[in-house]
Amino acid sequence: VIDQSFRVGFHYPVHFTRDVFGRANALLKTVVATSSPRRPADLVVVVDDAVVRLHDGLVDRIEGYVAEYRDDLRLTARILAVQGGEEVKNDQRHLDAIHRTIHDGALCRHSYVIAVGGGAVLDAVGYAAATAHRGIRLVRVPTTVLAQDDSAMGVKNGINAFGKKNYLGTFAPPFAVINDLEFLSTLQDRDWLSGVSEAVKVALIKDAGFFAQIEREAPRLVQRDAPTMEEVIRRSAALHLAHISGSGDPFELTSSRPLDFGHWAAHKLEELTRHRLRHGEAVAIGMALDSTYSHLLGELPEPDWTRIVGVIQALRLSVFAPELAEHLDDRAHPRCVLQGLEAFREHLGGQLSVMLLRSIGRAFDVHEIDPGVMMRSIDVLERLEASGAARRPERAVAASAPRGLS
Ligand SMILES: NC(=O)c1ccc[n+]([C@@H]2O[C@H](COP(=O)([O-])OP(=O)(O)OC[C@H]3O[C@@H](n4cnc5c(N)ncnc54)[C@H](O)[C@@H]3O)[C@@H](O)[C@H]2O)c1
Ligand SMILES: [Zn+2]
Repeated sequence: VIDQSFRVGFHYPVHFTRDVFGRANALLKTVVATSSPRRPADLVVVVDDAVVRLHDGLVDRIEGYVAEYRDDLRLTARILAVQGGEEVKNDQRHLDAIHRTIHDGALCRHSYVIAVGGGAVLDAVGYAAATAHRGIRLVRVPTTVLAQDDSAMGVKNGINAFGKKNYLGTFAPPFAVINDLEFLSTLQDRDWLSGVSEAVKVALIKDAGFFAQIEREAPRLVQRDAPTMEEVIRRSAALHLAHISGSGDPFELTSSRPLDFGHWAAHKLEELTRHRLRHGEAVAIGMALDSTYSHLLGELPEPDWTRIVGVIQALRLSVFAPELAEHLDDRAHPRCVLQGLEAFREHLGGQLSVMLLRSIGRAFDVHEIDPGVMMRSIDVLERLEASGAARRPERAVAASAPRGLS
């Protein structure tokens, strides 16, 4: 036996700025120039097409930015606009186009791919950058709430394949992340709000104080108050980063997945609804489901459960989708949501591990799910959604929530 062991350290900054491609903003130039072994550094830029469409003159601005800092930066291929949303992860032709741009730009391992877009585009570009030359430096510029408060912070990328979410992907830390709040102004309301789901998620498993902040600020978030959103994004990003760097398992070698609270059902619902639901919308339902299950098991006290579904509804997110209740009489049916547990088990590597809540801010792992209790949880959420509370978020949930669940 020739035994071996080695460690690799990672470091990457997450910056918060405004107008990242403004000529007066030297941040991106500095991030690249201070680390590049070559001057100018070669780069290609891939942008979410919705961002190109909604931010007038963006491509010209990026070209102007690179021209301004021509001693340090050099664009080596035309800026590529790729379709935003889940489609970029569903159709491998988009991945091919990104690889092609990296190839046409003759990037080497010391060059840079700048990815500008929502979580889906960042996942696809990240995967392309991680696989071209076995890894090219990636700078993420997230443009949605969800990408800024969660997905761009992490070390994962990937695309969907064989009908499975994130089936192809790698663990590859970014080189740097730059959060520019100004991009968020053009988001549809559903993207503005659904991205808060991941902040609620990390608060539920780690930080009761943060949950109380979101609860308090929900009306301002609904009114699209940007400073309030910025605070939520910063705190969520910091909690996600602290987990990744401090949990001892950044590359998810064990089965425990705290940051995937609510996600087994969410991923299945995204598939069942053929991505009619955004990831954040599906996560809201998944969290409502696992919180209700935690409560029905006797773990999560009713006042905590009421607050959780209350926050989801105050953020104008649903706690139920019709697909959740389909085929429940045949648990082996591929379109039964409980099959999501099987997919999650396979993804984890054999042993199921699902996060539940003991209280707001305190999570624990279970390795088995009682299907009867899960089906009752679905029923509770269906009634809660039907009661209309989701459309009248100003009403206290307690007034519409079924009493005495347990
Ligand atoms: N890698 C990870 O660790 C991780 C974590 C969480 C989620 N994700 C993934 O992230 C994806 C969801 O990301 P998302 O919520 O950002 O959605 P998204 O990327 O699907 O974007 C939603 C829509 O907003 C558009 N858009 C992007 N920026 C915009 C802007 N500034 N203004 C207007 N429209 C804009 C997109 O084109 C798209 O149509 C899912 O695929 C999910 O699996 C990955
Ligand atoms: Zn998620």
